[in-house]
Amino acid sequence: MADLPMRLKLALVLLLAGASCVAAPVRPLRLGLCAACHGEDGSATQPGVPDLAGQREDYLRAALEQYRDGRRDVAVMRAAVGPLAAAELDALAAWYAAQARCRP
Ligand code: HEC
Repeated sequence: MADLPMRLKLALVLLLAGASCVAAPVRPLRLGLCAACHGEDGSATQPGVPDLAGQREDYLRAALEQYRDGRRDVAVMRAAVGPLAAAELDALAAWYAAQARCRP
């Protein structure tokens, strides 16, 4: 990289740094229901709440279903996902799976 112009090197560094925290899917309408605890980017905002960023989409989707039908019996999560339609759970699982893990 020694013979590259300084500006090009800087552009490469910025590109690589930025690429680690980019969200791809469309922002779900119901993200606000989850962000208070899990953060918009899936990095939990409170102790005792799991980070969701970068988790497998199929795992997240299954977990949401389990909270909704009571197989996972956790009151806060049941209240959060209870009123949501299947398509909304799909969108939330896809969103959180696509977030980059930004914690060490
Ligand atoms: C009041 C805080 C709170 C809110 C709001 C909330 N969650 Fe949670 N969530 C939790 C806690 C606490 C757990 C851990 C529960 C357990 O022990 O299973 C959890 C667990 C989860 C898990 C399972 C993670 C895993 O690794 O198994 C998923 C997925 C999830 N939440 C998604 C969501 C989504 C999507 C929303 C919005 C619709 C939401 N949560 C809203 C607190 C919250």
